[in-house]
Amino acid sequence: MSKLANIDWDNLGFSYIKTDFRYVSTWKDGKWDNGQLVTDNKLSISEASTALHYGQQCFEGLKAYRTKNGDIQLFRPYENAKRINLGAQRLLMPEIPEDKFVEAVLQVVRANEAYVPPYGSGATLYIRPLLIGVGDNIGVGPAPEYLFSVFCIPVGPYFKGGMTPVNFIVSDFDRAAPYGTGAAKVGGNYAASLYSYHLAKKSGFGDCIYLDPLTHTRIEEVGSANFFGITWDDEFITPKSPSILPSITKYSLLYLAEEYLGLKVAERDVLIDNLNEFKEAGACGTAAVITPIGGIQYKDKFHVFHSETEVGPNTTKLYNTLCGIQFGDLEEPAGWIVRV
Ligand code: PLP
Ligand code: COI
Repeated sequence: MSKLANIDWDNLGFSYIKTDFRYVSTWKDGKWDNGQLVTDNKLSISEASTALHYGQQCFEGLKAYRTKNGDIQLFRPYENAKRINLGAQRLLMPEIPEDKFVEAVLQVVRANEAYVPPYGSGATLYIRPLLIGVGDNIGVGPAPEYLFSVFCIPVGPYFKGGMTPVNFIVSDFDRAAPYGTGAAKVGGNYAASLYSYHLAKKSGFGDCIYLDPLTHTRIEEVGSANFFGITWDDEFITPKSPSILPSITKYSLLYLAEEYLGLKVAERDVLIDNLNEFKEAGACGTAAVITPIGGIQYKDKFHVFHSETEVGPNTTKLYNTLCGIQFGDLEEPAGWIVRV
């Protein structure tokens, strides 16, 4: 194992620090160049870039994990490669060949090996690939050129405390439209969520829960993660909707709940007026990992699930199974782990 950076690994939060290398590749005249590692964390782009004016951009989030024996591994990076290309299709950007995407991630992790947190700290290396429209353009239309960039930062928990219950509030606003871009990981969805996130934080909540934008009766997702609940008869339930981000963690949990924990599973409607059907609930995502939901504020009611301070048994088992695989302590389903 190479020398580690001088960082207080046990007390990392989720904030930006500059690591040594990032990857940048340019799409021009119909093709991608080979890309390269660079040390400068500034991008120099035209003031008329579509990413700046018309939100023509999408991004990804995945992590590298340090195993017990010091190796480094990625969790399902080809799923991120597929998803960034769905965003690219939706916003009329060039796709990134999946192998190019994963190779760029591998290059960045290898070059920044000193920033991959040690096993046991609970911290990980968060990797942020982004695809942006650049170049001179002012009419509403796709950019003439594109940048694909990948950087990484060591992170701790996204929600303070990690595996401790967090309370959420149902937002009066929508992050996505019924036939909009909710299922793509595009910046516009997050721009639309900033104000409601601000209001939620100001009232002491960890984040918002969004309802379906058409009827405002069904839970869609959290601003930064998908939602799941465990019913009183031990079924793992997660909302089905065309306007939520198809979370790679969520699909992994659907598989693990069924195959590793023997739970029944379903993706279906989750009514905000029927929270009583769940004995446990949680948020899941790359940054959120599994964050237990203590309670949800909806209008003037506050609904508590398992507890506001303790984590339920099913949520604990799901967390241990997911993290066990990600950190290399449990055998993974075929193809889920890419060794760095
Ligand atoms: N939903 C939203 C809005 C997110 O930002 C994320 C994070 O990526 C997720 C869900 C979880 O997706 P994943 O598990 O692929 O990280
Ligand atoms: C992720 O989990 O990768 C995300 O992009 C969520 C973001 C709000 C940090």
